[in-house]
Amino acid sequence: MQIHSAIPDLRSALKNRGRVVFVPTMGNLHAGHISLMEQARAHGDTVVASIFVNRLQFGPNEDFDKYPRTFQADCDKLAAAGVDVLFAPTEADLYPEPQEYFIEPPGIQNVLDGEFRPGHFRGVATVVTKLFNCVQPDAAVFGKKDYQQLMVIRNMTRQLAMPITIVGGETVRAADGLALSSRNGYLSEAERAEAPRLYRLLNEIRDAIRGGEADTIKLEKSAIAQLDAAGWKTDYVAVRQQSDLAMPQGLDAPLVVLAASRLGTTRLIDNIEV
Ligand code: PAF
Repeated sequence: MQIHSAIPDLRSALKNRGRVVFVPTMGNLHAGHISLMEQARAHGDTVVASIFVNRLQFGPNEDFDKYPRTFQADCDKLAAAGVDVLFAPTEADLYPEPQEYFIEPPGIQNVLDGEFRPGHFRGVATVVTKLFNCVQPDAAVFGKKDYQQLMVIRNMTRQLAMPITIVGGETVRAADGLALSSRNGYLSEAERAEAPRLYRLLNEIRDAIRGGEADTIKLEKSAIAQLDAAGWKTDYVAVRQQSDLAMPQGLDAPLVVLAASRLGTTRLIDNIEV
């Protein structure tokens, strides 16, 4: 696996490589990321991963400084997964001067996760655009676990006519249902044992909707009450339309149930399609 941090070196390395498929990450890789790398292989000839902890998408009181950086272990995992090229820019490579031009997503950036993480999707859209400009991929793979992020990037790519196919990768879960996430490492042993409750509740909401329950607000409130009772602090549990994350108008359109809740200081997100 080639590793490049400088943008000109990366561009030279990607000349005449056929169809390039890109998987951007912030590192601290787990089996969920590796599954995205494997899915990427099916969409092109050269698989490029990136590792960059993007300061722009973290709020002032978020975990940018303590976000786990495990570069050598990540390189070993990517090489073992057959990734061809790793782009690992430093901050000076990607932000050699203060970033003053931004990609501003529309209203979707202010709902759900965006409501609780102001500026997050602006930071994501900006860095992803910049990474796309560096790698110039034909396709890019993003995990469905970050459902709203995937939607922002799909819409951005389409509206800005970027010639890139966006592929959504399925969420990988531990045996007890907890979605794999770099932030799971922050959980204490007791919190880790409690954490699968979030996915269990999402399943219960999905099953109730499938059974014909149309009062989705009642379902959301009941899940939040159960999380409260177990000591969680919930930002949202929300049933939304898959197409635009708007509130559902009946049960006919495909729906998705999304949640973000905190166990101790660790914020977990998850979702399930109905
Ligand atoms: O999902 C992530 O890891 C990040 O938001 C991404 C897409 C790599 C942008 O920094």
